[in-house]
Amino acid sequence: MTCIRIVEVLPTLTDLFHAAAKEFVRIGRAAISERGRFTVALSGGSTPRTLYSLLAKDYSNFPWSQTFLFFSDERHVPPDHPDSNYRMVNESLLSRAPIPAQNVYRVKAELSDASAAALEYEERLRSFFKLGPAEFPHFDLILLGLGPDGHTASLFPDSEGLKEQLRLVIANWVEKFKTHRITFTFPVLSHVQDVMFLVSGPDKAEMVREILEGNRTPPFPAQQIQPEGRLLWMLDEAAAAKLKR
Ligand code: 6PG
Repeated sequence: MTCIRIVEVLPTLTDLFHAAAKEFVRIGRAAISERGRFTVALSGGSTPRTLYSLLAKDYSNFPWSQTFLFFSDERHVPPDHPDSNYRMVNESLLSRAPIPAQNVYRVKAELSDASAAALEYEERLRSFFKLGPAEFPHFDLILLGLGPDGHTASLFPDSEGLKEQLRLVIANWVEKFKTHRITFTFPVLSHVQDVMFLVSGPDKAEMVREILEGNRTPPFPAQQIQPEGRLLWMLDEAAAAKLKR
């Protein structure tokens, strides 16, 4: 079954984050009323920080105790490092909202061996979702960002990780940064109900056009995300500037 692609363009950055927060909460409340819990994987980078702050500030009455937070990817650094996605989420959301610590599943990226960190995270995913050998987790929502090169999570163009079809989490070598990133694989990013891409700014406009209107071969990593339900692109005007509308 093909996913439903929805592109929402918001006039300003503030409008974008408010709309994204409202949608996060709507999906979360629906999941909790249907399944008793909300499982969501957060994206890293700089764009979502404001969304996370807004969720902490305006949605303290959200059922955080029934919400389970994971990370779509992580940099191979300790949790207090400036580049850590966990640190960004902790500063903007976890330290400000009543989210039980045991509901937060961070990548142990402080482990010196990135592959060991990936395997450890995969095992915790398998145990949380009670998965059999060839099964994939089914998140309610996965948040993703978009790099100017068309990468998403830490699946970068021309990287080995693009080929992975069995593992849930891998240590993907990123040549341009000369480091590993710990990231969900394509199968995990597709066995999900809804995916929300949150993208802002003029530096993303060309790639947004390529992803949503182009048909490059091979496709950019961000073009290969096919959730089971909705593929939601939340854009501000600047990021949508080159789209035919
Ligand atoms: C990361 C992300 C990555 C990010 C894009 C966009 O760890 O960096 O998961 O995929 O979403 O690189 O990053 P910005 O939001 O900083 O532009």
